[in-house]
Amino acid sequence: MGKTQIRPMRVEDVPAAERASAVTFFEGDRLSRRVSEPEVQPRSAAVGKQWIDRMSYLVETDPGGCWAAMDGDDMVGFAISQNREQVWFLATYGVLPQHQGRGLGRQLMDAVLAHADGRPGLFSSTVHPGATRRYRLAGFLLHPQMRMVGSVDRSTLPAVSGLSEGDENDIEWMNRLDVSRRGAGHGPDHEYMIRRMRLVVSRQSGRHGYVFIDEDLGQAKLLAAQDPQTASSLLWEALASSRGPTLINCITTANHWAIDVGLAARLDIGQEGYLALRGMTEPTPYLASGHFL
Ligand SMILES: CC(C)(COP(=O)(O)OP(=O)(O)OC[C@H]1O[C@@H](n2cnc3c(N)ncnc32)[C@H](O)[C@@H]1OP(=O)(O)O)[C@@H](O)C(=O)NCCC(=O)NCCS
Repeated sequence: MGKTQIRPMRVEDVPAAERASAVTFFEGDRLSRRVSEPEVQPRSAAVGKQWIDRMSYLVETDPGGCWAAMDGDDMVGFAISQNREQVWFLATYGVLPQHQGRGLGRQLMDAVLAHADGRPGLFSSTVHPGATRRYRLAGFLLHPQMRMVGSVDRSTLPAVSGLSEGDENDIEWMNRLDVSRRGAGHGPDHEYMIRRMRLVVSRQSGRHGYVFIDEDLGQAKLLAAQDPQTASSLLWEALASSRGPTLINCITTANHWAIDVGLAARLDIGQEGYLALRGMTEPTPYLASGHFL
């Protein structure tokens, strides 16, 4: 190993960051896998391509929050964070296994937190001991997260009313709803997601809410609502589109309404890392998106 250096990440670095992330998370997931869980599979080419698309968009949108650790010409660590108005979030962060424990993670974290400039912040954390140590030492509160897994028992699907297909015209109120849930709108991230996922909304007065649904996976990727009942209807709509095994993730303890929906659909509860928060309380009713929080 040569001398390592932390430097800003550029869009042309993103494919190398994807390779480093695939190796880092494969190894991390393998080490934290519980015996009851299936073997961890390497990231597929299709998922790798989506990762590159998403992270390139983030690097272009707010490059100051994106950093790389380089060992000569090789990328050995990466941290991609973003400011959206008064909120900061970390989309991804890792150091190649053979380079861990040498302080690179700390330097990358210092760089992204300097970009946050004291803003309240959030991200979804793995259970990796180096990661959780780093986050708590950086002042984040670790809120345990749950997830629901399994195949939806379709006989449990309720008739859901009051929902519509959403589009760009909904973004303005969706940003206002985001402000009330997590302190800042998703802004350009909504436009990015609308182009790639199905958006379902509730436009009823006092019961606004939205969910982005990844139709390939039949999974809710980001959900926010004014009240738990609307949130539950939106989650049911996402579950109705699932075919085969599905997942509801990023459920914090303030979002037990999502546990109740999952149980009614006959999914199983599991635990999954932490929602790390600084300067804010748990958003609710809300299911964070792993990459856009
Ligand atoms: C989290 C991660 C980026 C940290 O990078 P790193 O280069 O190992 O970080 P550092 O060397 O700065 O060390 C982090 C701290 O945790 C400790 N640590 C590192 N690996 C550890 C381990 N396996 N067990 C216990 N403590 C560990 C270090 O001693 C250090 O603490 P200190 O500064 O008080 O001594 C890296 O471990 C990683 O990529 N993990 C797998 C992917 C992952 O989970 N990413 C987080 C996504 S939210």
